[in-house]
Amino acid sequence: MIEIMNKSQLLQLDNHGRLRHFLTIEGLNAPLIQSLLDKAEGFLDISRQPIKKSSLLQGKTVTNLFFEPSTRTRTTFELAAKRLSADVMNINIATSSTTKGESLLDTLRNLEAMHTDIFVVRHDQSGAAHFIAEYVDKNVAVINGGDGRHAHPTQAILDMLTIRQHKSSFENLRVAIVGDILHSRVARSELQALQLLGVGEIHVIAPKTLLPRFIEQYGVKVFYDLSEGLRDVDVVMMLRLQKERMLSALLPNEQEYYRCYGLTEERLACAKPDAIVMHPGPINRHVEIAPSVADGKQSVILQQVSNGIAVRMAVMAMIMENRSS
Ligand code: NCD
Repeated sequence: MIEIMNKSQLLQLDNHGRLRHFLTIEGLNAPLIQSLLDKAEGFLDISRQPIKKSSLLQGKTVTNLFFEPSTRTRTTFELAAKRLSADVMNINIATSSTTKGESLLDTLRNLEAMHTDIFVVRHDQSGAAHFIAEYVDKNVAVINGGDGRHAHPTQAILDMLTIRQHKSSFENLRVAIVGDILHSRVARSELQALQLLGVGEIHVIAPKTLLPRFIEQYGVKVFYDLSEGLRDVDVVMMLRLQKERMLSALLPNEQEYYRCYGLTEERLACAKPDAIVMHPGPINRHVEIAPSVADGKQSVILQQVSNGIAVRMAVMAMIMENRSS
């Protein structure tokens, strides 16, 4: 995993330190993240207009290459590309030729022959987006839409945008990340983004079995008790139990997990009164979050989804600008 990270950092930047692919948050810097956030802020206005279009990617082709199920990420990438006037292809690998024995590289070559400009890749294997970025034609950009447990960089940026909309600065914040951190690419990318933006204090709250070993080395405070970890936090980031990635039983059962780690109104009261509640989705009600909290006034979960469109527009626009200048 460490090797993927280091190589991805190098591969995604051009000689001027600008994004040419977007594979991971690791290795970026605060000004680059801030400029993505500013750009996304500008695109939010387009989504509010009666005609939701910009011509920035007119004549370009974006291919969504999804090897793993997705609702929010795929559709928001698709909408983002369409709002920038690109042509969009959605390739669902479950119904494509790779199931007829065609190799991934052959599928790629065929899609390149259709003159794709951007591949958005989602895959259950860590390093998949990096692999494609390594082998793809040099004129094609790759954006990681989530690879295994490794990274989900656009999710981290859209979450930073959501935080920025509610809180005046990152430096003074206390942020809690709660749940299945071990299997979460979202948590990994969030941690890196929060740290790059200089967040004051990060709490990770989970049962021991759902925490990576040596998590303290990430400069976070570890809590096994939810109420304790939530004390006076400004932002609560909930995570889904990634049961599809659990190789063995790491938990007694979902009811027990909810009893100890479910975010109920009572527990949320330990956080600051103006704390926001975030979740990348899909949410599992009564597993990690109470419906009254998911739908409550502190929840910004649906705002995260809307922000996802603007952020994905910003990433695509920035990469295409960098490539044309
Ligand atoms: C996340 C993912 O797929 O990594 N969802 C998302 O992209 N919105 C988180 C999850 O599946 O729990």
